[in-house]
Amino acid sequence: MNLALINIRQLLTVSSGGRRVKTGEAMRDLGIIENAAVLIEKETITWIGRMEDLSMGSLKESDVLDCIDKVVMPGFVDAHTHLVFAGSREKEFAMRSAGSTYQEIAAHGGGILSTVAQVREASKKDLKKSGRKWLNALLRHGTTTVEIKSGYGLDMTNELKLLEAINELSEEEVISIVPTFLGAHAYPAEYKNRKEEYVREITDRMVPYIGSKKLATFCDVFCEEGYFSAADCKHILTHAKHFGMLPKLHAEELSASGGAELAASLGAVSADHLEHITDEGIDALARAGVVGVLLPGVSFFLNHAYAPARDLIEAGVPVALATDFNPGSCMSYSMPLMMTIACTQMKLSPEEAITAATLNAAAALNLSQEIGSIEIGKKADLVLLDIPNYAFLPYHFGENHVDKVVKNGVVLEV
Ligand code: NIG
Ligand code: FE
Repeated sequence: MNLALINIRQLLTVSSGGRRVKTGEAMRDLGIIENAAVLIEKETITWIGRMEDLSMGSLKESDVLDCIDKVVMPGFVDAHTHLVFAGSREKEFAMRSAGSTYQEIAAHGGGILSTVAQVREASKKDLKKSGRKWLNALLRHGTTTVEIKSGYGLDMTNELKLLEAINELSEEEVISIVPTFLGAHAYPAEYKNRKEEYVREITDRMVPYIGSKKLATFCDVFCEEGYFSAADCKHILTHAKHFGMLPKLHAEELSASGGAELAASLGAVSADHLEHITDEGIDALARAGVVGVLLPGVSFFLNHAYAPARDLIEAGVPVALATDFNPGSCMSYSMPLMMTIACTQMKLSPEEAITAATLNAAAALNLSQEIGSIEIGKKADLVLLDIPNYAFLPYHFGENHVDKVVKNGVVLEV
């Protein structure tokens, strides 16, 4: 035995019963055990049960962690971030308060391309240094697995610089990192009038190299008017699949662009954003079992519409929550804050928000067989929370309730 968590006031197992995701009513079932214990050997959960069924005699005192008065739940999985970037865009934040829109700011030299300019100036070492700072902050807020996209380089050299930084951080840091290639995030300024050429640069140069070097698990695209059309996205993601990267999409964020239907037809792992998804799009995702990753922090930060979360859940789409942490559209890495916004603005119940931030989020990374719930055989990634019951997590917002994080079976004081 390596670690025994005992006297847990409320254990949220989010037990999946072997399922990849939870949908509909099942999202409200957190598999709660009161006065519980969890045993961990090396990195793996080996026993879960009630305190009265635990034989304390077999435990070594030094292996025991008393969780009296704590809520324990699976570590958060943040399935959508752009966490490795340079610079900041607080001026745009103020401009939006003064009345400018996200699209107007982008058209006047701000937006994604302003971060691209700063990333191109930055060294890999600098990108890693700021990335490491954010990763530590994520861990402190209870996130144990994070997806990170490239997409602020937009040429071969700089997309590789970002992906190498992400992959090196993955080797060096304790938090688990899933790398995604997002070459189709925006058209770089130098290709403004040669958009087809940039798509060819992605399909013919970037995708084959990144795929063959295994620098990314997923390939993502920004499917949106003024960015990449559904036809371009299909072309790019089909190539990416051929080179071993699994498809994901930024879909229906600013307008209904057919991204959800495309995600379904390609068998994408997730379709993210979905603020403007149509009923047909919802139907397509539900039938194909594509995870809908909702990003309430973006709608909150940009004062945009919220995704129709209730319609998605009622249609049977497996819904996940993520931060979209990036300097332009959501400067927050707090999964609990996303849960609060999801509950108040999208009408998720606290139980649905918790399932969406753990098991279903793991499914959005194709990892729900290993993480996302507290079940025998799964990886010991857990958070200890200093709250009287789980409903306090979205309810008492703006406070970090994380007491300790257990990552790969090791207790971290955060
Ligand atoms: O997910 N929608 C496109 N990309 C990001 C925004 C990135 C930025 O503004 O820098 C998003 O919201
Ligand atoms: Fe994003």
